Amino acid sequence: MRIDKFLVSQNVGSRKEVQKLVRSKQVEVNGALVTKPDQKIDPDKDKIAVKGEKIEYSQYVYLVMNKPSGYVSATSDRDEPTVIDLVPKELRRKGIFPAGRLDKDTTGLLIITDDGEFVHRMLSPKKHISKKYVAEVDGEVTQDMVDSFEKGITFRDGTECMPATLIPDENNPKKAQVIIREGKFHQVKKMFITQGLRVKKLKRVSIGGFALPENLAVGECRTMLEEEKQQIFL
Ligand code: URA
Repeated sequence: MRIDKFLVSQNVGSRKEVQKLVRSKQVEVNGALVTKPDQKIDPDKDKIAVKGEKIEYSQYVYLVMNKPSGYVSATSDRDEPTVIDLVPKELRRKGIFPAGRLDKDTTGLLIITDDGEFVHRMLSPKKHISKKYVAEVDGEVTQDMVDSFEKGITFRDGTECMPATLIPDENNPKKAQVIIREGKFHQVKKMFITQGLRVKKLKRVSIGGFALPENLAVGECRTMLEEEKQQIFL
C-alpha cells in the first residue's frame, strides 16, 4: 500500500495534506524518513510515525453518533439527508454505513462502521444483544402493557416478538424505557400500537452494555474507544 493512501485511510489528513507531511520530512517508516508519497508500506508489519508519533493501524472505522431527528439511516437517499452526511470529513471512509436502522424521527445511539462482520454480530437476533430505548407515548403506560411486553407481543400480521422489557417512568406515566433483543422494522412503535398507544418520541440510549456517551451532542459523532466496542457485546 502507498504511504500516502495509508495515512489518508487512518484519517491523518487529506491526500494533499499527507503528501505535504511526507515532503516536509515528518513521516517515518521503521525509523527511516519517507521521501516519496508513493513509497510502499505494509500496514500490518511496518511501524509508521508522523511527527514522531506512532500511527496505530486500524483496518476498520467505528463511529458512535448521537442521531438527530430528520436524518435517514442510509448511505444515500434521493430526497432526504442521511446520517452519513453528518459524519465529518476527517472521520469519513469509503464503505461506512449505519449499523442497523433508526427511523428518520428516532434519535440517539447509532453506530457507523465499515466492518460488516461486527455489524452482523451486533444485530443477529441469535445473539440477543439488547437495545434500550426511551419512548414517549400518547397515553398511560400500564402494568398490563408491561406484562404483554414480557410475554412477547404479536403484531396484527402474526409476527411474534421476543419477550421485551417495559419499564414505566416513575415521574411521567406517558414515558417508559423499552428493552428489546432483536430489531424488527419499526419494532418499538408497532409494539406500542398493539397496546393502543402511539409513540411520539423515541430515543435509543444503549446497545448491549454500551450507553450513548453523555457528552456527545445531538448530531455529533466520534471514533469509538476499543473498550466501548467491547461493551456492546457485554
Ligand atoms: N423501533 C422503532 O419503531 N423505530 C426505531 O427507530 C427503532 C426501533
